[in-house]
Amino acid sequence: MVKEYIATNKDRFLEELFEWLRIPSISADSRHKQDVRKAAEFLSDKLAFAGVDKVEICETKGHPIVYAEKIIDPSKPTVLVYGHYDVQPADPLNLWTSPPFEPVIKDDKIYARGACDDKGQVYMHVKAFETMDKLNQLSCNIKFMVEGEEEVGSDNLGIFVKENKSKLKADIILISDTALISLEHPSITTGLRGLSYMEVEVTGPNRDLHSGVYGGAVANPINVLCSMISSLHDDHGKVTIPGFYNKVAELSTTERVALNKAPFELSRYKKELGIDEIRGEGGFTTLERTGVRPTLDVNGIWGGYTGEGAKTVLPSKASAKISMRLVPNQKSAEITELFTKHFKAIAPKYVTVKVTAHHGGEPAVTATDSPSYKAASKAFEEVFGKTPIPTRDGGSIPIVALFKKELGLDTVLMGFGFDSDAIHSPNEHYGVKNFTLGIETIVAFYKHFSKK
Ligand code: BES
Ligand code: MN
Ligand code: MN
Repeated sequence: MVKEYIATNKDRFLEELFEWLRIPSISADSRHKQDVRKAAEFLSDKLAFAGVDKVEICETKGHPIVYAEKIIDPSKPTVLVYGHYDVQPADPLNLWTSPPFEPVIKDDKIYARGACDDKGQVYMHVKAFETMDKLNQLSCNIKFMVEGEEEVGSDNLGIFVKENKSKLKADIILISDTALISLEHPSITTGLRGLSYMEVEVTGPNRDLHSGVYGGAVANPINVLCSMISSLHDDHGKVTIPGFYNKVAELSTTERVALNKAPFELSRYKKELGIDEIRGEGGFTTLERTGVRPTLDVNGIWGGYTGEGAKTVLPSKASAKISMRLVPNQKSAEITELFTKHFKAIAPKYVTVKVTAHHGGEPAVTATDSPSYKAASKAFEEVFGKTPIPTRDGGSIPIVALFKKELGLDTVLMGFGFDSDAIHSPNEHYGVKNFTLGIETIVAFYKHFSKK
């Protein structure tokens, strides 16, 4: 029945998703403010069509939150579905093989910004809901909360959650915004990393100088910034900030063995990324390095002359954006402080440094013995014919820790993207199969969860 409904309506589901993907809801870019709102309105219309009792667009200081619910019976369990309808900027545009906001299917994959992260995955929930409603199979109360600021730190969602605790009352949070190992090896994410995001500025002389007249006699802030940055890792790939690893929860041998049981092919990984060798913290596997180890990376660096041709200049300033991915039990605020202190401490006398913190977020781990995890596991078994493998993802969804703290709720991370789907990159895509199987798995989840 469910399979049939999805198959019969698949083309319409995709057509609707395409219409949503055509709206460039880039939350970071104020020029797209109206588009972000249009994407919220589109979603609220589709939720209404799918059969919710109530849907509203909740205003915030930033982009709106779409809230909807269908309460079939207050004595039944309630699932709160969270997702985001905002997307990352699409640049560099010239690297896309088809325009980012003109979705197309190639090789059975949907190519568009937001196809996987997260419109495509949110839309599975809308269509799973429609399927259950039309087939009279709703077995849980469902609430939807879909925000437009995930990609910029979810500040206003944090406020909304704190102010609407009774409205958001539920038994469990359900999110599809993470990755699956493969269709042959289904998996459920059981951990996400936290984040501290910093910006640094190094200033040398009070103005840009002629690099011949002054070069060699005055410190060049770009050279200085580069050596400061390179000192942040040692030869073993460890972060050198004092205290950085102090609170890191080390895995037991059993946990490490379990984590490394997940299928992973290094040669394929390297080939897909076009690299000859990998690099990371010594003593850990790739799955450990992205799943359970903290990291520090430069996300952007600038200064001096970057225009056409050559201009000889010894710049006055150099800057960089640096992110640190955090793991249990590191605290974003503490790591931000450790970084700030250390970066100032290593600054040579011939420059001054300014350190600013951008958004942060706490890491999260979810239980594998909870009724909701078990329901998700059964749902995957039913649809994929295999028990899903628990995995730790390297990305961050800071709101998951906040849901636990403010609402006391656990989350099930039932994501259907692949790491190779190029989220945040040019040519983001999402498998049509991932989309349809995802809808089926979500429907199966409700069935099993209602029997908990
Ligand atoms: N959906 C991603 C996070 C993600 C990706 C989790 C892949 C697991 C696997 C989310 O939209 C995202 O990009 N989060 C940001 C953090 C946010 C605070 C900007 C991230 O991880 O960089
Ligand atoms: Mn996302
Ligand atoms: Mn994202």
